[in-house]
Amino acid sequence: MAGVGVNVMLLVQTLLYAACGIASLATSIPTGIEEANFGSNCILYGSLKWKNETAKTFEVASFGSPSSCHFCIYLSVFTLFYGLLAAGYHGYALYKQIDPAEMWVMPVILCNAGLMALVFIAACVMSVGFTMWCTSLSSLGFKCVDAPTLDWGTYNGSTFYTHLAAAQGAFWVTFLMWGGNLGMSLWRWRLNRRARSQAQMPATVSDKAPITDHPEYDPSASRVI
Ligand SMILES: *[C@@H]1O[C@H](CO)[C@@H](O)[C@H](O)[C@H]1NC(C)=O
Repeated sequence: MAGVGVNVMLLVQTLLYAACGIASLATSIPTGIEEANFGSNCILYGSLKWKNETAKTFEVASFGSPSSCHFCIYLSVFTLFYGLLAAGYHGYALYKQIDPAEMWVMPVILCNAGLMALVFIAACVMSVGFTMWCTSLSSLGFKCVDAPTLDWGTYNGSTFYTHLAAAQGAFWVTFLMWGGNLGMSLWRWRLNRRARSQAQMPATVSDKAPITDHPEYDPSASRVI
């Protein structure tokens, strides 16, 4: 029966939206913490230079644009609320057994497509910016993974490697999950369109045709006006 499949689909959508919302915490919080650890500066696209090469001490040559970090943080806060809201909407429809054909589909498709694109951009901004910062550190002969053991002066550099690596991974995972949300909403749109066209079929066929006997409309066998 189709109803069973529909409910499973709604359940999967509910869980996927909730997962996207919750995973946004893994992108926003570590990025925000590292901005605070570097005195409200963004280390993405930043660079380092020697302070005293003999003493092997370094300092920040330049920080990245604050907008790189802010874009990642604000987008994650938005996807947190949108994901939970969409999970609530789909969960409510599941609970109330609302016919999915009655649910919003087009606005959801547009939001999912937009968010998937924005999360892709954020994942790239994070990956490229983080790589540039670590490349700058390795040009001085240090490894990013050893950052906690290095002297960061007035800044707290003990956690940025694990935090930003986690945020970067979470961005790519959520990008795939938004792709899943988009795919499911497109699939729903297709199902609704098919259901609608099947519902309209009898109107184009003779009133006396035994519709219930022919749920699969076959144009070659029917009299079309
Ligand atoms: C750099 O460090 C070395 C070794 O600690 C020290 O002798 C030297 O004076 C420092 N140079 C500067 C410019 O501070």
